[in-house]
Amino acid sequence: MRVALGSDHGGFHLKMAIKEYLDQQGIANHDFGTYNAESVDYPDYAQKVAAAVADDEYDRGILCCGTGIGMCIAANKVPGIRAALCHDTFSARAAREHNDANILTLGERVIGPGLALDIVATWLQAGFSGGRHARRVEKISTIEKQYRGQEEQTLPCCRERE
Ligand code: RB5
Repeated sequence: MRVALGSDHGGFHLKMAIKEYLDQQGIANHDFGTYNAESVDYPDYAQKVAAAVADDEYDRGILCCGTGIGMCIAANKVPGIRAALCHDTFSARAAREHNDANILTLGERVIGPGLALDIVATWLQAGFSGGRHARRVEKISTIEKQYRGQEEQTLPCCRERE
């Protein structure tokens, strides 16, 4: 499994803790930034990670900001992305089993690193249940297609892979 990581300044320290965990577990990963705690705009990093996952360069993405909310909203604007904000392990498992979430978002200012790593482990290990859930996820894709039309207008930062 290949995991794309990203954060803004508000999620920088949590992302580094997650990167250390992934490295310890031998899970391939790449950090798309930001690389320090100076103030940046979370949509720039959400788009980098979401584009890498949507393009199948990475299997999953994990995004951290102060709350996890901005990253989740921004990542879900990229077609093909199903980002889920999870601050408990029950939701993390359900996000995979029911929603086939391909990006997990977390808020460094909301939960501690211990719980966050449990959530990451749960989310990475859980699989999609399929069946009736596949029908529902397919309906999400149908909604997305109905509102598409500007997917050719890619913002520059989307293609600047680091
Ligand atoms: C940055 O101050 C903060 O707004 C950001 O990290 C995130 O919480 C946005 O949703």
